[in-house]
Amino acid sequence: MTRYESRDGRLRLFCGDSHRLHPITSGSVGVILTSPPYWVRGRGRPSAERYAHDLAVGFGREWKRVLAPDGDLWLVIGDRHDGTEWVGMDALVIGWLRRTGWRLQSRGFWAQTRSRERWDNRVNYLLRFRKVGQVVRPRGTTLCWMLPLPRSHPDSIWVLDPFAGAGTVGRVAASLGREWVGVERDPRMALVAARRLQLRRVRASLPDRRPAAR
Ligand SMILES: C[S@@+](CC[C@H](N)C(=O)[O-])C[C@H]1O[C@@H](n2cnc3c(N)ncnc32)[C@H](O)[C@@H]1O
Repeated sequence: MTRYESRDGRLRLFCGDSHRLHPITSGSVGVILTSPPYWVRGRGRPSAERYAHDLAVGFGREWKRVLAPDGDLWLVIGDRHDGTEWVGMDALVIGWLRRTGWRLQSRGFWAQTRSRERWDNRVNYLLRFRKVGQVVRPRGTTLCWMLPLPRSHPDSIWVLDPFAGAGTVGRVAASLGREWVGVERDPRMALVAARRLQLRRVRASLPDRRPAAR
C-alpha cells in the first residue's frame, strides 16, 4: 500500500481499499468519522439493501476491530427520493449495523444548500454508533455540529477516515490537535489529500509507525 505521512507522523494516509485495515492496530482508534460514497439513484431497492449490507458487513468488521471499545463511529449517509418514495437509507444502514453489533447513539440531519440536487431530492444524516453495551447518552452538543472530538477519548486520540477522499476530515482533525489516519482507494484523490495535508510519500521499506494500542 502506498503510504503518505506528515513529518511528525501524526497524519497518515494509506492508498488502498479500506475493506482491510491491516496497517492499523486493533483497538487503537478513538473515533471513526467518515463519509462513504453515497448510494446513487436508479439502481433499485435490492441494491440499496446491498449497499447498507456491504457497509455494515464488508467494512464494519474492520471498523469494529480497530475501534477502541468505547470508541465512536460517525457516519455521514445520504438519503434520496427515488421519484416514487424516499429510499430510507438511514434506516437500512442502522438496521444492518444493529445486526452486526452496533447501537445508534445520536443522529443529526441536514439538507445541503447550493448542492447539484434539489434539497427535497436528497438529505443527509450524521449517525453516531457505539459497540453493543457501550452506551452514551446523547447530549445537545452531539445532536448538532459540535462533534465532541477534542475531549471524548483523551487517551486514544486517533481519528480514522476509511473513505478519506480529499482529506477534509484530516484537516479538521489536525486543526483540533488530533492524530489522523486516512485510507483512500483512488490514487489521484490520495495525492490530492496528501498535498492538502502536506504529507510526504513514505517508502514501503521504512518501518510502519502504527498508532499504539491502548
Ligand atoms: C464521499 S468521499 C469522502 C470524502 C472525505 N471524507 C473527505 O473528508 O473529503 C468517498 C471517498 O471514498 C473513496 N472510496 C470508495 N471506496 C473505497 C474503498 N473501498 N476503500 C477506500 N476508499 C474508498 C472514494 O474514492 C472517495 O474518494
